[in-house]
Amino acid sequence: MSQPNRSSGPFRVIDLIRKKRDGGVLSAAEIGYLVEGCTDGSIPDYQMAAWLMAVVLRGMTREETASLTHAMLHSGEVLDLSFLPAKKVDKHSTGGVGDKTSLVLAPLVAAGGLFVPMISGRGLGHTGGTLDKLESIPGFRVGLSVPEFHRVLKACGTSMIGQTEKIAPADRKLYALRDVTGTVESPYLICASIMSKKLAEGTDALVLDVKTGSGAFMKKEEDAVFLAELMVETGERMGKQMAALITDMNEPLGRMVGNALEVEECIEVLHGGGPTDLRELCLELAAWMFFLGGASKTVAQGRQLSEGILASGKAFERFRQMVELQGGDISTIDDPTRLPSADHRVEVPSPQDGYVAAIACEQVGTACVILGGGRERKEDSVDPAVGIVVHKKIGDKVSAGEPLCTIHCHADHSHADHCHADHGHSEAQAARAKTLLAESYQIAAAPPAQKPALIHRVIYKGEH
Ligand code: URA
Repeated sequence: MSQPNRSSGPFRVIDLIRKKRDGGVLSAAEIGYLVEGCTDGSIPDYQMAAWLMAVVLRGMTREETASLTHAMLHSGEVLDLSFLPAKKVDKHSTGGVGDKTSLVLAPLVAAGGLFVPMISGRGLGHTGGTLDKLESIPGFRVGLSVPEFHRVLKACGTSMIGQTEKIAPADRKLYALRDVTGTVESPYLICASIMSKKLAEGTDALVLDVKTGSGAFMKKEEDAVFLAELMVETGERMGKQMAALITDMNEPLGRMVGNALEVEECIEVLHGGGPTDLRELCLELAAWMFFLGGASKTVAQGRQLSEGILASGKAFERFRQMVELQGGDISTIDDPTRLPSADHRVEVPSPQDGYVAAIACEQVGTACVILGGGRERKEDSVDPAVGIVVHKKIGDKVSAGEPLCTIHCHADHSHADHCHADHGHSEAQAARAKTLLAESYQIAAAPPAQKPALIHRVIYKGEH
């Protein structure tokens, strides 16, 4: 079948490539033309790739970024959730290690009376993905149809699913091209990619958790702030209530890294316990979701609401209900020891007495991928049971030989082989992970002058 003919359109693609190459500003119509042509295949990949590279090198104005986001959003289906009787809010994280707040936030905010329609992703690079975590609950279905998604939302206030084929198809095409042409690393392209998918959920408000530090994609705080401001402004231009929290990713969030282990840790938080940093970040993000969704007058009131709901057990009940409605085995939620678990433990001892000065956090995420808890290739399946339990975090005192963290892996290779065919057997994987983890810890004689703050700053224009 011949491809649609773009030569008869209102623009010549080569003129649009040249314009951006020379630092010009494209109109909404010109950007829309490119996105449409990319989606229907009438513009060849080499021309789109050339234009993407011109964007990486020349950047975009705020107007152009909004036009690109708008065109990508409308390349597919935009959900209409106006039938729901309260405001709809969501949170998006740019990705981290042990970053599991969605599983706590969605039921917590739903229990406070707002709706949380959450369309999530899978692990990317060294970071974990919400869908992979949820799928470690036996039977849990992330591939609901839109009518099923609506039903679960109506019944329990939240539903967590994967992206459908129909949402932002332009992003799927553009992302695949960016991935192989060295054009992922542009804040403008990242903003349009993330926001086109999130805005397709049909929410009224969105809180962004933009990670910075050694385990984040944006290692430098100024890059994280730039991206956050761009996303906030783009969302506001589209009529959404927006805020961004720049949060720390210099060490894993909480103690668990790995799919089922992270579900277990979220259940602890939903029962009112769990590690302080994870609990604190969940309460702050929920406070902002309540504030932006109009359920509280101030963020401080939102925080009180969040604490009350968590203490009441209502957030846990909502989580349990959602798991049941999406086909998950709730006996694993009532008794997390029934979640998939690995049979073997390997400790990573401290080489000396001292204090944890720093953690190369990306390496902790990579160690989890090596164990089979994430993907090395797109087609890999993930192992729900493996992972890392972190015992020592930045500033903690440690003695020589004391475990810094413990690897959860399989003792034989029968289980892991079907997941990662050419990773070698599981003991070799565990050995590689152990080396990487040992190297990722920096131990010093004195404690660090100060631990990085959990929340570095907040980007929000109004009073809060
Ligand atoms: N995540 C996305 O969805 N898109 C990007 O471009 C980068 C991260």
